[in-house]
Amino acid sequence: MCSERLTEFDQPRPCLPQLAPKPVVIRGADWFRQMAFLDGTPMQGVFRLSPQIRPERASGKVLIGVVEDSTGAIDVQVREDLIENVLAGSFPVVSVAGLVAEVKGRIGLVLTSVTLNPVTIDPVRLIPRSICPVPELLDRLEKAVRQFQTEPLCRFMQRVLSDDRLMFPFVSLPASRVHHHSEPGGLLMHSLECLECVAQMTMFERAELELGMAAALLHDISKVMTMKKDGTKTRLGAVMEHDELTLRVLAAHLDYLDHLWLNGSIALQHLLKWKSGKGRPLPLMTIAEAVNSADRISAGQDLSRRAFHLVPNSHFITKVQPGRIAYRPVFRGQ
Ligand SMILES: [Fe+2]
Repeated sequence: MCSERLTEFDQPRPCLPQLAPKPVVIRGADWFRQMAFLDGTPMQGVFRLSPQIRPERASGKVLIGVVEDSTGAIDVQVREDLIENVLAGSFPVVSVAGLVAEVKGRIGLVLTSVTLNPVTIDPVRLIPRSICPVPELLDRLEKAVRQFQTEPLCRFMQRVLSDDRLMFPFVSLPASRVHHHSEPGGLLMHSLECLECVAQMTMFERAELELGMAAALLHDISKVMTMKKDGTKTRLGAVMEHDELTLRVLAAHLDYLDHLWLNGSIALQHLLKWKSGKGRPLPLMTIAEAVNSADRISAGQDLSRRAFHLVPNSHFITKVQPGRIAYRPVFRGQ
C-alpha cells in the first residue's frame, strides 16, 4: 500500500463553471480585416450601421449588410428583429457583438446584439469611410485631431466632430464650384491643409496655437449650409455668404466651449471671423494672420497645381483664372 501523502498539486480540484470567452474588442474595421480570427471567436465593437442592409435571399428574416468606420467596413449578418429599433436615421452609431463567420464569402460577423450607442468617444474613427470621396483624408483628420492637448478645446473638437449634421457634408463636399479644391472631398482637403500649415507655427504659445489650428480646420465649416455636392449654392447660399454663417453653424458647440473656457471661446470666434482686408484692419491675435495666410496658401497652391498640371514641365508661367497668372521657378541645374 502506498504510504506517500498527496501533495497539494495532486489533490482533486473542485469543478469550476465554464466561463464564456471574453469578446475581443475590435479596434477598427481595417484592423479586423487584417487579423486572422477563428470562426466563432466572440467580438464586440462600436461602428456605424450602414443603411445598405438588405434581406438575405434565403430568408427574409436574416439581413446582410455592413458596419463601418473611417477605416473600412465589415460584412455582417443579423436577424431582422435585432435591428428593428436601430434603423432610424442615417448611419446610426451602434455597439455590436457577434461571432466571427464567413459572410458573403469573406470574413465577417454574425451579430448577436446591436444597440444604439449615443456616446461617441472616438468621433473621427466613426465617420463612415464610404461617405468620404477621398477616404485617406480621414486618416489625416484623425492624426490632426490627435494633436490637440488643451482640455476644453479637445472636448469642443470632440463635440464638433461628433455632429453628423456638420461632419457628413464636411468630409464629402467640394470647397468651391470652380475656384479651388473643387472636387468632392475638397472642403476637407483644404481645411486639413490649413490646419497642418498653422500647426507648424510653433512659435506661438500652445493654447493659442491650438485655437489657430481649430479655426483653420473650421474656417469654412459654414459651407455645409451654403454648398451642394456639385458645388452649386443652396437656397441659403444664394442669399448669404458662407462667412456670415460660421458662428451660427457652430453656435451650440461654441455655447458649450463658453462654459468650459470662455476666453478660449471668445478667441476662437475672433479667429473664425477675422478676415484680412475686411472690417478691423489688424487682428487681436497674431495667429489670426496665420489662419488667414494658411487659407490663402492652400487655395493658391491648389490653383497653381491645377494650372500647371497640363502644361509642359519647362513652362514657368501659366494662366490660372481670368486676370490671374501663376509663376513657378523652374530650375534646370547647371
Ligand atoms: Fe478657405
